[in-house]
Amino acid sequence: GTKLIIDTDPGVDDAFAIALAAMSADVDLLGVTTVFGNVPLAMTTANARRLLQLCDRPDVPVAAGAARRLVYGGERNGNVHGADGLSGRAGSLPEATRPLESQDAVSLLVSLLEASDEPVTIAPIGPLTNIAALLAAHPGVRDKIARIVLMGGGVARGNITAAAEFNIWADPEAARRVIAEDEVPCVMVPLDLTHRCAVDGAWLAKLAASGPLGQTLESFTPDYLAYYRRVLGYDGIVMHDAVAVAEAISPGILQTETYAVNVDTTDGPARGMTLVDRRIALDDPEAAPGRRIEVATDTDLDGLREFVLSRLTGSR
Ligand code: BDR
Ligand code: CA
Repeated sequence: GTKLIIDTDPGVDDAFAIALAAMSADVDLLGVTTVFGNVPLAMTTANARRLLQLCDRPDVPVAAGAARRLVYGGERNGNVHGADGLSGRAGSLPEATRPLESQDAVSLLVSLLEASDEPVTIAPIGPLTNIAALLAAHPGVRDKIARIVLMGGGVARGNITAAAEFNIWADPEAARRVIAEDEVPCVMVPLDLTHRCAVDGAWLAKLAASGPLGQTLESFTPDYLAYYRRVLGYDGIVMHDAVAVAEAISPGILQTETYAVNVDTTDGPARGMTLVDRRIALDDPEAAPGRRIEVATDTDLDGLREFVLSRLTGSR
């Protein structure tokens, strides 16, 4: 199966994404690394460990990473996922039986990559701080990375600001570093697509009826749903991070197009924006400079929803 490491800041949709990988029999989930983001690092780490316990996966090591962004200032957290990252329901999760790794996220990433006999897919679904630090400090591991499939950015929109998507905005310098990393294939799964993959009440009802795991995941969603309705005008749960993990574990489930992508790291109103060059001069580096990556643009929406639901409701 696909060898996978998830770098995450749970987070309601991170919880769906972690469970999707953890419950997939064809995925070899080597480890989970955590980063600040939706809530501070101590909470994202506790949430990740307890979510793996909920999925009965105490075999998966968890290591904590960056508590703040790479270059600028202090920690900036989101406000969409409640004070504990899981809409006030984190306390309902089981305690983790597996201790937190004593090494930090970058060290765990390096040891898992070096020990792997096949290239590993990394799915960053939070700010890109850990991954930027990994690539900067350990360039030798690049050929052990099959792909980076990241949730982040937007082609035509932001969410945390008019221009910027949260994961990129939370550490724009780190995102810019990762996206610019020439030797590592990169797929960006942007807001434009994840919003279209929203799931509705009927989907959530099936999830909740499937058993304790589904019930717990569904219990995280009411406040998140209310936020999306109020701020973004959506009716439905947007499982951003699960869309990226679906592509990581089932390559090709999303359709992609190649674009030159850069990140705005200036201090203006577009800080954290992904600048996706959609001019057609792609084969002309002078007319359209910048790193080419794959940007996910479309999918069979119902097929994707069914894929995620069947994995979350099936047994491993
Ligand atoms: C991203 O930001 C976070 O709030 C979500 O977990 C997701 O990773 C969406 O913009
Ligand atoms: Ca996330």
